[in-house]
Order: sequence, then structure tokens, then C-alpha cells
Amino acid sequence: MDSFRVTGGCVLDGEVETSGAKNAVLPMMAATMLADGVSEITNAPHLKDMKTMSDLLRVIGCRISGSEHVLAIDTRGANHLEAPYELVKTMRASFYVLGPLVARFGRARVSLPGGCAWGPRPVDLHLKGLEALGATVTVTHGYVEAACTGRLKGGVFHFPISSVGATANVLMAATLAEGTSVLHNAAVEPEVDATVDYLLSMGADIQGRGTRTLTIRGKEKLMPGNGRTIADRIEAGTFLAGALMTRGRVKTTNMEPEHQGALLDVFRRMGADVQVGKDWVQVDARNRELKPVDIVTLPFPGFPTDMQAQLMAVLTTVPGISVVQDTIYTDRFMHVAELERLGADIRLRGDTATIHGGSKLSSAPVMASDLRASAAMVLAALVAEGVTDISRIYHLDRGYEDFESKLSNLGGKIERLHGQSA
Ligand code: EPZ
Repeated sequence: MDSFRVTGGCVLDGEVETSGAKNAVLPMMAATMLADGVSEITNAPHLKDMKTMSDLLRVIGCRISGSEHVLAIDTRGANHLEAPYELVKTMRASFYVLGPLVARFGRARVSLPGGCAWGPRPVDLHLKGLEALGATVTVTHGYVEAACTGRLKGGVFHFPISSVGATANVLMAATLAEGTSVLHNAAVEPEVDATVDYLLSMGADIQGRGTRTLTIRGKEKLMPGNGRTIADRIEAGTFLAGALMTRGRVKTTNMEPEHQGALLDVFRRMGADVQVGKDWVQVDARNRELKPVDIVTLPFPGFPTDMQAQLMAVLTTVPGISVVQDTIYTDRFMHVAELERLGADIRLRGDTATIHGGSKLSSAPVMASDLRASAAMVLAALVAEGVTDISRIYHLDRGYEDFESKLSNLGGKIERLHGQSA
């Protein structure tokens, strides 16, 4: 397993181009199975999760080709309507194929995703939403079997909580249902809008883009899709957090600033200078005394849970008391113990971490536990005194393209140790 070796004392200063969004390209790839033919996706990032989704689509019978950052997905051979545990357990987003498969073929068998590093990841809302469209859903031996006679039927479903994945799954299924569906309290993350846009490129009839009420008039058939992946707001946010971490300056380009939601306000409240352009954001924390802040993660446009670990790493070096509460995943705190190994002073109670900031971090061997925690450990290691080895960085490769070269270009001293666990 690869590991990262990071030398402390870095001050990031530079520009970094944002790649396509992992959490947009994955539902877009699943959506291609709603049509018969060759769909195209551009600005697709090269990520491990994308490879996993490609492997899954191949198991189903699709053919995938593409160059540089272009994906061509030929669904004309799709006939194996199953997503096996071996793939689904490595990537929860595999569950996105359930809706498209049952909508297009009338049945599907998808493994339950199981938990992840930080705890259970239920899929009950995906299943209830599909049942609202007339699917018969059973769960046996760790697999979900969904079926319908003829087409799914348009229905009304009210999401009790905001769920990105369940919204995408049920939305995709509704585009081929017979009649009209209305989804209430739908998620409004940019990646959901991106999924809507891709479905519209396939000829789907969807009203309410960007709102919590989506009205879908089902079609008998859709056309192959053609769309560009939006920029990865979490990748951009991670590099911008690096400017605060190292008291440097970072400009992220080729992105959509409006997708940063509450994140930029938090950076400003901490005392950083934040400039915003049409397709770029610059955060400058040079020679600034950063201030502690309290953070509560919320659905978009609130503070994103996917930036919680990265901001916690920054706050461990900001003198004063900061409080971080994760209301989306109340146990997403695997990074706390690892940050403490670097000298951070954090008290964890339930879904809330209290950070006694101002610690001088010092190097120690640490472990990546999940995708965003990995990024948090790299950020902390950039300022920890000494050389820090971070093992299990396969977690990070799931969601960050060319991470170490992008960070090196910003001034980070990071190298990948191939096949060596630190
Ligand atoms: C998506 O996961 C993202 N993944 C996650 O990013 C992100 O953290 C999450 O949305 C929240 O923004 C992808 O898009 C591939 P949810 P998803 O359904 O769809 C509960 C990353 O780091 N829930 O919006 O699985 C759930 O437990 C990853 O890139 C149910 O109770 O998240 C959570 O508390 C990590 N029942 C809340 O809803 C369900 O059926 C929000 O989860 C589904 C979800």
C-alpha cells in the first residue's frame, strides 16, 4: 500500500486547477444506463472511484472507452442486472445503479453497501423512494432486489431528510416511470443539479432544478447523454483550506465559486482574505492571525460535511476554542485520534468536537482512515514540525486527482512512497 511522506514547515503559495467532481461524475455514469446507446461525459476526473464505477458498468455489460478526461459509455450490451458485493462494498455510490436498472429493465439486484470507516450508511430512503414509484423491494442475504411489472409508475415521495444519493437514485428512476412523479425535500447539492442537467441532456422532463421540489414527467425512452462534469467543490475547498493551514495563499481555478456555499464565509470569519472571480477563488492568509470559529455541518448551501475534517485540522493550529459539530454524519471523526498523534488537543463528545487550538503540531506516523480524513492529515502534516508518514492513502486516491503533484506545485513538500506502508 502506498503512503505519503510530508515535510513540515510548508507555506503554500500558488494556483491550482480544479478537476471534475467525483460526486457528480458517479451519478452521471449511472444515469447512462437509462438509455440504449453511447453516452459521453467530459471533464471526467481520473479517480479510483471512477474506475470502480466503470468496472461495475462493465460487469453489467456496458462497454467503456475514452481518452484523457472524456468517457464514452456504450450501454447496448447491458444485460447482467446485478451489482456485486465485492464492488459495492468498496464504493457506496455503486448503489446509484439500482434506480436506473429497475427503471430501464424492470428489475435489479444490488448489494447493500454496508458501512464505511465512520459508521453505518443506511439506504432506506433509496428503497422507500423506489417503492413510491411502484417498485417491489426485498432485502435478502445482503442484497436489495427491486422489480416492477411493466414500467415504474409516477408517484409522490417526501424525503424525511435531505439525501444526495437517494434523491439522485429516485430521480433517475422517475425519468422512465409512467406518469408524473413529485419529489419533495429533494437534496439541492450542486451534484444533484449536475445529475438533473445530464438527465435533461438525455431528454428527461424535469422541472424544479435547484429547488427542493422536483417534478418529473416520465418518458418511454431517453437518448444517450452528453454533458460536462462540474468542478469538484470539495477538492477546491481542500486546497483553499491549505492556504489557511500554512498561512499562505492559494487560488483555485476552473471551478464554480457559487458551489462553495458557507465555506468561504467561514474562511472570512477566521480572518483570511477571500477574493472571488467568475471561475476562481483566492484565499490569502499570509501574515494573518486566524481566529477560532464554530462550525455546524448542514446540507448545501450549509457548511459541507466533506470539509469538516480538513477544517478541523486547520483549527487545531488556531489559538482559542473552536467547536465542530457534524449533523450529517454524527460519527465522522476518525481523524480526531490521528490529529491527536500530531499533538492536537481535541475533546470529542458525540457529534461534537471541541478543539483547543494553538498546538504546535509535530510529526508522527499516522494513518488515513477515510477519503476526507486523509486530506486532513496531509494538511496537518504540511505544518507539523518534522517529517510525517501517512499510511493507507488509497483512501485519498478515491477522490483526489494528481493530489501530490497539485500540492507540490503549490509549495507542499510531499512524496508518494510506492508500495510502502509507512
Ligand atoms: C453523498 O453521500 C456524498 N457521496 C458524500 O461524499 C457526502 O458526504 C454526502 O452526500 C453528504 O453530502 C457521493 O455523492 C458519492 P446522503 P450520500 O444520502 O448520498 C442519511 C465524499 O467524501 N441517509 O446525502 O451517501 C445518511 O446517513 C463522500 O465524497 C439515510 O438515513 O449521503 C446521512 O446522515 C462521503 N438514509 C444523511 O442521510 C438513506 O437512505 C445524508 O446522506 C440515505 C442517507
